[in-house]
Amino acid sequence: MKKTLIVANWKMNLSTHEASVLVHRLHQTIPTHRSVEVVLAPNLLVLQPISVEIDRHKFGLAAQNAYHRDSGAFTGEVSYTMLQDLVHYCIVGHSERRIYFNETLEVVRDKVAASVRNGITPILCVGETKQERTENQTKQVIHDQIVTALFRLTSEEVSEVVIAYEPVWAISTFGGEVAKPHDIKLVIDYIRKQIADLYGQRVSEEVRVLYGGSVDDQSAQAYLSIDGCDGALVGSASLNYQKFANIVDTAYRLQHEESEHHG
Ligand code: 13P
Repeated sequence: MKKTLIVANWKMNLSTHEASVLVHRLHQTIPTHRSVEVVLAPNLLVLQPISVEIDRHKFGLAAQNAYHRDSGAFTGEVSYTMLQDLVHYCIVGHSERRIYFNETLEVVRDKVAASVRNGITPILCVGETKQERTENQTKQVIHDQIVTALFRLTSEEVSEVVIAYEPVWAISTFGGEVAKPHDIKLVIDYIRKQIADLYGQRVSEEVRVLYGGSVDDQSAQAYLSIDGCDGALVGSASLNYQKFANIVDTAYRLQHEESEHHG
C-alpha cells in the first residue's frame, strides 16, 4: 500500500525562530508513522536551520520554489542543485507562483525538469481558476498543465512525481470555497486518466496525487477518503501544530482502517 503523503506548505510565513518553535511542537505531537510520510515546506531561509533540527525519521523537507538553471549569473535565485542535499521534494507551479509571479506552462516545465535532474521529487501543482471552472474548461486546463509540465520526463521519472490538484478557487488565498469531495474525485480520476494515456496504466497507478485546496483538521477525513487521493498539500492549517497533527492523525487512522479492512 502507498504511504499517505501530508505536506505542510508554510508559504511566506514564520521567522527562523517561529519555525523552530513550530517544529519543536510538531515533534512532540506527531509520532513516527510508517504508513504516513510527513513533509515540511518552509521558506528558503528557514530550510537550512530546520534541516538540522528535524528528526529525519519523522519529517521530510520540501522547498517551495527554485530556479531551473543549475548555477550562473542569476542574481537573487537559488537552484535545485543547491537544494539537493537539503530536500527530497520541491513544490513546483503552485497557483500563487503562476498567478503572482507569472510562471507560465514552460517555466513550470523547466522547473520540473530541473528538479528531477537534481534528484528532487517535484510536487507539481495543477488546478483551474474559478472562471475556468465556470466556463467548463477544467479538463482542458489540467490537460495542458500536465502535458507541458511532464514533457521532458521519461515514464519512469513520471511515476515518481507527485501531482497536487489545487483548484485555485478552493485555496484560501483566492477565495477558499469549500470543494465537494465528489468534484475533487472527478478531477483526480481525470489526472490519472491523462497519465495513463500518456505513460501507461502502471505509471498512472504509481504516481501520487494529492488534494491541495484548503484542508484543515475538520475536512481532512473527507478529502483523504477520496478513492485515488494519496494525501494532502496543506496551507494555512499547517501553521497550527494542533490542526496539522490532527490531519496527520486522520491520515494514519484511515490507513490503519484500510489495512485492517484488507486483512
Ligand atoms: P490553504 O490551505 O491556505 O487554503 O492553502 C492551500 C494551498 O495553497 C496548499 O499549497
